[in-house]
Amino acid sequence: MTTPPDQIFFQGEEIHKTKMMMLKMVFFWMCLSIVSLVFISGILIRWTYIAEVGGQEQTVLKVRQKRYDVKPAKFCTPQSENNYRVHIQRMSPNVTGKLFENLSPGGAWQPTSCVPRDHVAVIIPYRDRQEHLDILLQNLHPFLQSQNIHYEIFVIEQAPSTIFNLGLIRNVGFLEASATYNFTCYIFHDVDKIPLNNLLLYRCPTDKAVHFASAEDRFKYSVPYYRYIGGVLGFPAEAFRKTNGYPNGYLGWGGEDDDFYFRMQSQNVSFTRADSKLGRYRVFHHPILANPSSGSSLDFARYLYREYGPWDDGLNTLHYTKQEVEHRPAYTWIKVGFDQNAMMKKLWKGIMDPNYDEKRNLTWWNINMTRAIQQFPRVKKHLPEEGS
Ligand code: BGC
Repeated sequence: MTTPPDQIFFQGEEIHKTKMMMLKMVFFWMCLSIVSLVFISGILIRWTYIAEVGGQEQTVLKVRQKRYDVKPAKFCTPQSENNYRVHIQRMSPNVTGKLFENLSPGGAWQPTSCVPRDHVAVIIPYRDRQEHLDILLQNLHPFLQSQNIHYEIFVIEQAPSTIFNLGLIRNVGFLEASATYNFTCYIFHDVDKIPLNNLLLYRCPTDKAVHFASAEDRFKYSVPYYRYIGGVLGFPAEAFRKTNGYPNGYLGWGGEDDDFYFRMQSQNVSFTRADSKLGRYRVFHHPILANPSSGSSLDFARYLYREYGPWDDGLNTLHYTKQEVEHRPAYTWIKVGFDQNAMMKKLWKGIMDPNYDEKRNLTWWNINMTRAIQQFPRVKKHLPEEGS
């Protein structure tokens, strides 16, 4: 019996359909097995991981969960109501007692209702100026609190019997303050400068210095010369370290800040100056013991740093003894001693010579130019020819 032609065709189509169906089923099973394999190995790996790290995995999950729960941080901004009033007369201990009530011992403070962005160390070099210190503190605490920042005030006192050395004391202040906290701004503050405008924010940029005292009353609310960076100067730590700090060799009044300007310049550390409407300060007068050799040191330092950098003196050569530390109600007090003669002999590879001043019964140190040129020959080209 022969099969009719249309049936042959029908049978061929059936066979084709069955083949396709089987292929589809094989493909489906293959996919299913791959998916199950991936799924099962995932579970196995996770089990092994949990077995290895134990409870930690839970902690990680919890922390991740917690992150979603935390509300965005409320950063501090300066207080909106401006209650800062300058008090130039010394207040009674009763009044200041109340004023300092909210401070932590050591003169630290931080806002509680917001997260402060700025962490500021105010470093005040000090000797025999109790009245000025009291007046500064009674103003500085309200001034800083109105800015809603975290701060601490460090008073660094130089022990008696050596000539006051501002540069060295500021360096000590920086090292001591930075050892207690990683502040975002270190402000070197003269004891006799009272800020008048609290819109002058005591904070630092991340990479350069700020000269705050841009308008002192004694200079008719301006700066005496462009290079002036004295009075109140702020630094982020890294930029200050880049300069190797202040020079340690300026005894008595004057020169150390001008020298520091050359250090900054030689290390490409720039500074901004506060607007003169903001950087206003009242300055107290006081007798000074001017340094007769600061001029010649400065002339030399300027070229020394340009040619060799400031690495022969500064933070890296600082030796001092911390004699006493007290966390007083309005500030952290650190008393510091050092061997001035030993330090001056080593300074700038020993190119300083002592010079005794009979009238004042004091020893000043001058640069010995012959030795200086031997040690630092590249400076010679900047100096005037002998006899010219
Ligand atoms: C001194 C500086 C001082 C400036 C302003 C300059 O002659 O060298 O140390 O800051 O005068 O008083």
